Amino acid sequence: MRDARFGLLTDRPATFVLVGGRVIDPSDGSDEERDIAVRDGLVVEAADDAERIDASGWVIAPGFCDLHAHLREPGISGAETIASGTRAAAHGGFTTVCAMPNTDPPLDSADAVGAVVAAPASARVRVIAAATRRRAGGELTAVEELGRAGAIGVSDDGAAVPSAALTADLLARLASLGLPLFEHAEDASVAGGGVMRAGPAATRLGLAPWPPEAEVAIVERDIALAEAAHARLHLTHLSTARSLDAVRAAKARGVAVTCDVTPHHLALTDEWVAGSRRFAWEEADPRSELAYDGRCRVNPPLASRDDAMNLLAGVADGAVDAIATDHAPHPAESKLVPFAQAAPGLIGLETALSVGLLTVEAGRLSLSALLAALSTRPAAIVGEKRGLRTGERADLVAFDPAAGWRVDATTLGSASANSPLVDMELPGVVRLTVADGRVTYRT
Ligand code: DOR
Repeated sequence: MRDARFGLLTDRPATFVLVGGRVIDPSDGSDEERDIAVRDGLVVEAADDAERIDASGWVIAPGFCDLHAHLREPGISGAETIASGTRAAAHGGFTTVCAMPNTDPPLDSADAVGAVVAAPASARVRVIAAATRRRAGGELTAVEELGRAGAIGVSDDGAAVPSAALTADLLARLASLGLPLFEHAEDASVAGGGVMRAGPAATRLGLAPWPPEAEVAIVERDIALAEAAHARLHLTHLSTARSLDAVRAAKARGVAVTCDVTPHHLALTDEWVAGSRRFAWEEADPRSELAYDGRCRVNPPLASRDDAMNLLAGVADGAVDAIATDHAPHPAESKLVPFAQAAPGLIGLETALSVGLLTVEAGRLSLSALLAALSTRPAAIVGEKRGLRTGERADLVAFDPAAGWRVDATTLGSASANSPLVDMELPGVVRLTVADGRVTYRT
């Protein structure tokens, strides 16, 4: 059944005028109240006969670009499809989604990349192809061919490229193509089967600890190798302050390194894995059900409070290039199991803006820094321009920052609902998403 809120990129280009919104465009630093007229998908000076949409109180920004999402097609379409994942994107204000290759089979061939790019969707889908064949970590893929098929980079996300020698070869080949390695920085031998961030909460709960050095070891290895190869390196879903320190130092030396952090590593902490504070004679604490909540299992695991605050400071001062969701849909049953057996990952496309607005409300981030980290800065990493100026193709999100919503599993675009934020009230309601001149979401 077609859900009337959503459109496709193959729909007719739109014509409308957004009247009286606050237009924030990080590409030129502007922040002003003005109308945006769109005719046949193009931003124009005026469109007097067009539908007028009252945007007073709304913020209008360039369409968001997610550098890291799992759309699960081919092969895992019970959890998500390109259609449902890009509906989730449109609902969250995203107009571009970069799809990770850990599908079944993995996206390690030109044909597989081409099929994903060509699928009908409610957001532009860019493919990050597998770095090694079958994502098995043994032999590199034909990265030149994958690039020609449209891949914007490679990754074995879910795991790091295992050996330093293989990573060095890969970076040398990517350097000549100008494509980045999107690295999932985790040394599996150091992580040692840890299921939550090492620290007091893990000790209390008796869960196997995941030491932050597992991440730092690969971050430092890859920066050294990328520097030597003059290659582009993008470190995705960073979760520790020490990783960010290494990125800051590398950037200062001129290394072509960029990084992203997820909303959940900025705003949630390892304490979310634990629960209740009530006595026996008191009413049961509803939060006790949340202890060992499998929906909080994610890789890398939720960070310590210190690390989360450091990463947030990195978004605020620009050292973190982007907020990326690591949208990782899983069926409910894979989370209703003992914590250590729960599939890692949580959905994020539909809550990223709201979680970002929480950080703004908390005074930790400016609205313009948040919007830049969601739109123009990640778009630049994948070579896409964003803009809201006359003559440009309309690509934007309009949201009401003062409105709130309950994260309701039944109205999500995603085919999955694995997030600890489900049923919570969050700020910021997306009203309209326009991708490449087409309305992909409207409510
Ligand atoms: O939590 C995660 N889930 N981390 C990953 O690296 C992979 C992802 C998934 O595919 O579910």
